[in-house]
Amino acid sequence: MMNTPKSTDIGAFTAPVLVFGGVYGNLEAFEALTAQADTLGIPAERMIHTGDVSAYCADTFECASKLKDLGCHAIRGNVEEQLAEEADNCACGFDEGSECDLLAMRWYALANAQTTPELRRWMAAMPDHLTFTLGSRRFRVVHGSPRLVNEFVFASQPDDEFHALFDLANAECIIAGHSGLPFTRRIGDRVWHNSGALGLPANDATPRVWYSLLSPTDEGIEFSCRPLSYDHTAAAAKMRAAGLPHGYSEGLASGLWPNTDILPQPETDAGGSALQPKSVVWRQFSLAAE
Ligand SMILES: [Fe+2]
Repeated sequence: MMNTPKSTDIGAFTAPVLVFGGVYGNLEAFEALTAQADTLGIPAERMIHTGDVSAYCADTFECASKLKDLGCHAIRGNVEEQLAEEADNCACGFDEGSECDLLAMRWYALANAQTTPELRRWMAAMPDHLTFTLGSRRFRVVHGSPRLVNEFVFASQPDDEFHALFDLANAECIIAGHSGLPFTRRIGDRVWHNSGALGLPANDATPRVWYSLLSPTDEGIEFSCRPLSYDHTAAAAKMRAAGLPHGYSEGLASGLWPNTDILPQPETDAGGSALQPKSVVWRQFSLAAE
């Protein structure tokens, strides 16, 4: 679906960078995230959204407007790409006729109805990729993968699949979104990082959502996956009022996805167990869990 990705270089960072992705129209989670950024002293210039500002939840217009006004770095996910084109489906990569696919028709219709011409133009102008340096490392931000906006990439995939993706990316670290689960995976001396989703829990039986902080330290670059609590009751009530699928509104409280069609077996087996905050430091030759 993507031709040559439009890539924007956002320069070099020497201070912590906050990464978040998949706001999914969840305004309450987005407000909690920006409050947390204020608490951490992270300005918008050091925040990166990895795409899909709209999806399962009720507030596409408010979330897209908030992201636009915030002015942080942001790439286009498959949902922004489709909304920009006034397409009739989300192109999420779900198998045709699967439960995810059928549910997506309902939330995408609401998202499309809430997207103004101004927001479509803003989405159309977004880059597909970002590049930057942090410490001495070269990073590339993508939505799904370097080759495909809607490719699902999970921590359990074999090394050779990651190597193939790195070979396309001209980067030592790839930051991706789309697949909804937070992880930091070392492959040789390169790192694949996903901050998880801000707008939907991590299928871990808790209502928390996830973002991450990338910090240069004396020992290397620290990747810190962090949970965030927010008013999920209010977000779910809006979804019910909007007539959105109950599986996702109930999932905001239960922390469980309505189905796990997209997950590999190891991630399916790990579902329902509360994720723990995790920091790893990317040193020159080793990655040590703390
Ligand atoms: Fe996506």
